[in-house]
Amino acid sequence: MPLKIAVSGKGGVGKTTVAALLASQYARDGMNVVAVDADPASSLPAALGVPREIRKDIVPLSEMLDVIEERTGARPGESYGSMFSLNPKVDDLVDKYAVQGIENVKVMVLGTIKAPGSGCFCPESALLKNLMSHLVLDDEHVVILDMEAGLEHLGRSTVRSVDVLLVVVEPGRRSVETAVKIAAMARSLGIGNVLAILNKVSDNAQEKELRSMLEEEGIEAVAVIPHDPELVSADLAGRPTSSSAAEEAMTSLRTRIEQLQ
Ligand SMILES: Nc1ncnc2c1ncn2[C@@H]1O[C@H](COP(=O)(O)OP(=O)(O)O)[C@@H](O)[C@H]1O
Ligand SMILES: [Mg+2]
Repeated sequence: MPLKIAVSGKGGVGKTTVAALLASQYARDGMNVVAVDADPASSLPAALGVPREIRKDIVPLSEMLDVIEERTGARPGESYGSMFSLNPKVDDLVDKYAVQGIENVKVMVLGTIKAPGSGCFCPESALLKNLMSHLVLDDEHVVILDMEAGLEHLGRSTVRSVDVLLVVVEPGRRSVETAVKIAAMARSLGIGNVLAILNKVSDNAQEKELRSMLEEEGIEAVAVIPHDPELVSADLAGRPTSSSAAEEAMTSLRTRIEQLQ
C-alpha cells in the first residue's frame, strides 16, 4: 500500500527529528521515500544529512517563480485577478527539484504555504497543494510530511490524502493540549488514523503520565523516544543521528501503521 504520513505537534517537540528518523528507516528497508519539508522554518534537509553546500542553495518550491508561472500560467504576486490553472502538472517536480538526503531519501522543500482561509487564492498555493495531493504514489513509495504545528494551512484535498497523522508529544501539558487540538482538527477533516509518538521522555513516570493524559482524549500513543542528548548535539552540528532506542521506536510505529492498512 502506498503511504502518506504527516508529522505534526507543538513547535520544538521533535517533528523534524521524528520525520527524519522515520524517513531514513523506511529508506534503509528499501522503500522510495520522499520527505517533504512543509515548515517555513525549514530544517528537514539538515536532519536528513543534506550537506551544507547544497542546503544553502535550496530554493523552496513556493519561491520558484518561473516554475510556478510555467506550470500554472500566472506569476506569484502579479496574478491578482488573473486566471491560472488549479490543476498544474506536478508529477515531475520531485525528480527535478528534490535534494538527496541520507539513505537516498528525496527531500523536497516547499517553503511557506498560505492558508486557504487567509484570502490567498494564488498560483503558488495551487502548485503546492496539487503537488502534495498527487505526490507519486505506488507500493514502494512512502511520503513523509514534516509540518508546522497546525493543519490549518493545508487545504482539505491535501489533508484528505494523508493516511496517517502522527502527533509528536513531549513531557509537558502544552504539548499534550496542542496534540489534542490537532487530533480533533484531523478527525474533523476526515483523517481517521491519528497516532501519538512520545518524545524526549526521561523516565517511566513521564511516560505513564503522558499516556494517561492522551488516553483520556482517545489518542493512542504508539512509540516512545527517550530524551537523548546526542540528538541535541547532532542538531547543533547539522548532521543526522540515531540511536537504538529511536530505531526501536520507529520500528514499533511502522508495525502499528502496517496494522492500520
Ligand atoms: N528525543 C530527543 N531527545 C533530546 N532532544 C531531542 C529529542 N528529539 C528532538 N530533540 C531536540 O529538540 C529540538 C527540537 O527538535 P525538532 O525535531 O527540530 O522539533 P520540531 O520540528 O517539532 O520543531 C532539537 O534541538 C532536537 O535536537
Ligand atoms: Mg521542525
